[in-house]
Amino acid sequence: MKSIVILISGRGSNMEAMLAAKLPCRIAAVIGNKADAKGLETARAHGIPVAVVAHAEHASRELFDAALAAEIDRHAPDLVVLAGFMRILGEAFVRRYQGRLMNIHPSLLPAFPGLHTHRRAIEAGCRVHGCTVHFVTPALDNGPVIIQAAVPVYSDDSEEALAARVLAQEHIAYPQAVRWFLEGRLSLDAGGRVRLDGERRGTGALLSPSPDAR
Ligand code: GAR
Repeated sequence: MKSIVILISGRGSNMEAMLAAKLPCRIAAVIGNKADAKGLETARAHGIPVAVVAHAEHASRELFDAALAAEIDRHAPDLVVLAGFMRILGEAFVRRYQGRLMNIHPSLLPAFPGLHTHRRAIEAGCRVHGCTVHFVTPALDNGPVIIQAAVPVYSDDSEEALAARVLAQEHIAYPQAVRWFLEGRLSLDAGGRVRLDGERRGTGALLSPSPDAR
């Protein structure tokens, strides 16, 4: 059976969604970069091995990345899943796990890389916002897109309301992307884009605001 390692920095709700999805893999470990990351407690409660590689205890990004890689490699995972892992990883680290390092970002990339994505989507007047699961490349919040989920943005939305609407979709999209990986259905085409073996075509479109009923 394949195995994955999940990296978190905080709440860990995407990690919890992975656990709830009953993926066909062993979750070899959950690793946090802060000892007080709430998701670590959740992982422990599920009996999953937990480790902390504290960025604050490493003198440079390179040393932190190397310690993190050493901890990951102890488990020899097939896939490394960044689930709200809020440290920028260096090029050597990313290259080491190329093709088996996934991230979720709370925007429809390439729109809004970086922080405060929900606020920025509201301020930009977007009518649609969402999340993206992608393979990680050395550029921040960049890399071949595996799945995106779109949600409407309402005129009176608060940042919190929009974040909650997106997060609910993250919990669906991310386990699905990992499942496709585990099933061996993801590949890259000559243009560096993701191909999903057996891709299903949806029939609906999201119009936001909703058109008038007729
Ligand atoms: C999620 O919304 C995730 O998309 C975001 O952090 C949150 C973590 O929540 N990730 C990023 O912004 C990465 N650039 P969680 O700890 O409850 O999964």
